[in-house]
Amino acid sequence: MSLGRRLFKPKPRIAESTPIKNFLELKTKPYYIVASVEVGNTTTKSILTATDMETGKTQIVNKTVRMTRDVRLPAPGEEIFGRTICGTPLTKESIAELVRDTLLESHRQAALSIEKDLHFVVRSTGVVAEFDSPDEVGIFIQALAQGCLNAGVPPRLMTPAMSIQNIMDRFKRYTLIEKIVFNGPVASVWPPMGSTGVEIVANEMEGELATAGIKQGAKWTDVDFRNPCLSMDFGTTLDGRITSDESPYARTIGNFCGVAGAIPDAIVRGTGLVDADTGTALDIFDGKRSTTNKKAREYAEMIDQYIHIEKVPVSRKRYGYVPVDASAARKIGVVLIGCDVGEDGSDLHKLMEIGGDIYKQDGEKVLSGTLDLVCARMAGRMVKVAIEEGLISSKTAIGVTGRAGISGNKPALILEELERLDLFESPEKNTVFVDDGLARGAAVMARCMNSMGTPKNPMGGLRGGRCILKERMEHDLQKTSSAVSVGSR
Ligand SMILES: Nc1ncnc2c1ncn2[C@@H]1O[C@H](COP(=O)(O)OP(=O)(O)OP(=O)(O)O)[C@@H](O)[C@H]1O
Ligand SMILES: [Mg+2]
Repeated sequence: MSLGRRLFKPKPRIAESTPIKNFLELKTKPYYIVASVEVGNTTTKSILTATDMETGKTQIVNKTVRMTRDVRLPAPGEEIFGRTICGTPLTKESIAELVRDTLLESHRQAALSIEKDLHFVVRSTGVVAEFDSPDEVGIFIQALAQGCLNAGVPPRLMTPAMSIQNIMDRFKRYTLIEKIVFNGPVASVWPPMGSTGVEIVANEMEGELATAGIKQGAKWTDVDFRNPCLSMDFGTTLDGRITSDESPYARTIGNFCGVAGAIPDAIVRGTGLVDADTGTALDIFDGKRSTTNKKAREYAEMIDQYIHIEKVPVSRKRYGYVPVDASAARKIGVVLIGCDVGEDGSDLHKLMEIGGDIYKQDGEKVLSGTLDLVCARMAGRMVKVAIEEGLISSKTAIGVTGRAGISGNKPALILEELERLDLFESPEKNTVFVDDGLARGAAVMARCMNSMGTPKNPMGGLRGGRCILKERMEHDLQKTSSAVSVGSR
């Protein structure tokens, strides 16, 4: 490391989009409005984004966030079909209600009408711990659909257009649907599919959205986050993807899974400041600044010893609560990288005790500094495994989203970790931090499904490369004469 680099800490590239100020413009200009409905283990969100079809840039219109633990209790006769990591029971009906109310609330706040102004809805969930196998997540997605329908979302706003007749007049000039139709890859990456079509990791869809969302968010920075790339979404659970450097479509060659924010959450549950079962780091540190001192570094090192980060062993059916099919993954050449504490969180209670001690002895500031360091170290170790497995090189872009990866001082500390790995000359120019990655990814997915690309400002293709529309058309023509595919997004 040069002396200059040691003296001047590099500035993390954090994607911050300017908020929409003039709501009237949303109705008059060609803005494509997408709702991302996400039921997470900690938060349930309805995030409305608007993409300017002239520039391809996406802005956040409204963000309505509720705590998932506040979902209503199951009514008599309802079947509990899932639970969050901290045990909150969920039924199809209670989820549908939560989704309906959150969706309605976000439209009310933004003064938008679901029927008249909304153009697409994307649903996703990180609540997968209760499922026995990765593909069961489909049931949850159906419950989310019911909530959307109950809020008055027309079903056509949840499925790909497939033909120009299904595209609103206002957007007809922006769609490439007569050249290419949605055939699977979002932001030019194929999902990992087993030979039987079975999903290999339950939260793959979140990884897909996070990757696409980081590609989108990076447009607000000077980081070219296209393939090959590595994305990490630090929600309560961990998801993310590693993509190859192929063109026009890259393959998913790695997936992340396991626990993420559940680790800081366990640590704060020992302090007495939050509920010992359902409390979260978010309850204490939302938006607060944090400091990193020597004490925090010592604590973080101690906590790090409890955290396993590794290639998921083939024998595992679940890793860090997330259902996986590690042997199917191996068969199709996808490396699963997992994060766990004990086995499926069995040692999280030990972190709770340590958290209690830190707070008693050194207080809240040191505790928040410790959490930042713990999360940064996790990110560094995940990247290290990816290097060891030969999945990434200095050509790979790194992207982080999710509260447990971007809050507090984490971005700067993650850069420090990356510096130590010696992967890049300048980690800060190859790493991007993005808020609301999943919601931005939903905006990308919605446009992909309707073949609405912005070739002048492409998201598909390789880092440093041009738009791949022509290449894709040729590629798809070769594959099958009737096959249809998507424009670069
Ligand atoms: N300052 C902070 N330090 C560490 N972790 C934090 C901080 N703020 C929030 N978190 C953690 O981030 C997680 C919440 O992030 P997010 O809302 O993205 O997750 P989620 O979507 O509910 O989870 P998932 O999608 O994995 O089910 C929680 O575990 C939360 O405590
Ligand atoms: Mg989430």
